[in-house]
Amino acid sequence: MIETLTTQAAEAVAAAQAADSLDALAELERQALGKKGFFSEAKKGMGALAPEDRKDAGMAINSAKGEVDAAIATRRSELAAAERATQLEAERLDLTEVPVSAEAGHAHIVTQTWEALEDIFVGMGFRVAEGPQAETDWHNFDALNIPKGHPARDGFDTLYVNHGEPGSTLLRTHTSPVQVRTMLDQEPPIYVIAPGRVFRRDTADATHMPVFHQLEGLVIDRHISLADLAGTIDAFVSAYFGKSFNSRLRPNYFPFTEPSAEFDIQMNDGSWLEMGGCGMVHPNVLRAGGIDPEEWSGFAFGFGIDRLALMKYGVDDLRDMFSNDTRFLNQF
Ligand code: DAH
Repeated sequence: MIETLTTQAAEAVAAAQAADSLDALAELERQALGKKGFFSEAKKGMGALAPEDRKDAGMAINSAKGEVDAAIATRRSELAAAERATQLEAERLDLTEVPVSAEAGHAHIVTQTWEALEDIFVGMGFRVAEGPQAETDWHNFDALNIPKGHPARDGFDTLYVNHGEPGSTLLRTHTSPVQVRTMLDQEPPIYVIAPGRVFRRDTADATHMPVFHQLEGLVIDRHISLADLAGTIDAFVSAYFGKSFNSRLRPNYFPFTEPSAEFDIQMNDGSWLEMGGCGMVHPNVLRAGGIDPEEWSGFAFGFGIDRLALMKYGVDDLRDMFSNDTRFLNQF
């Protein structure tokens, strides 16, 4: 009887070690240690033994039962730990941040153009000047030889700001007021460019936006002539568009320059495209900037940055640049 029990106990220990689930282990426990299990049977069988043999038999049964108990308990804690680990893994929240797109962004086409222009002019010896976007009527018009009532004011479609005396504050309609601020701020010789945002009460269409960007240039020195202006524009056009591109000046009128001109660039197909205005700084403007026109002379120019980018990249509609459609923007 003891031999049979020892064999059964050894099998039960092996089975416990091999059990692959808590359920299988419970079933094994029932078979080995339950009311109808083989230990119960063995205990019942003790009654049939001779009294002197019962002690040894009892000890053998107890030690075999202890081994089976221990094997089941060990395996149960192993299986429970594994089950808990599986459950934790299943319920784990993945808090790793997932990038929406792996693609890196890049500067907007207008910013790229603006920066390329700054590089070109800085390379030619210019410094970068700035002025406010909300400007006084005096800096935007009067100081630029456009007094109140001057017809040129009407051409600008000005947006006025509700601040101070009515009509005294506006969103600058061009970057030219930075000329005046620079002259009041520093002594000649002056070689500056002023790129910046400007505003007009315009309806958006293929070639106009109510908010756009200009680049102003101002040079004040001794013995500055129209030839210096033409040479500077030519140098900038070939630096930006390429050596084979030509520029030309056409007489025009601007209140702040005398003489004034419009400058065009020649495209690959031979056609001329209008780019901006320029001229010799008007003596009244020099005086408004605190500079003596008898001693100093200078030239100025101004053109649209957005329109320049449009020409360089062959964009048909200015509005595409500001629609924030990445399919458009990613081309540049
Ligand atoms: N401010 C002018 C405009 O917005 C452009 C311009 C013309 C600027 C002639 C100048 C200039 O500096 O000399 O239309």
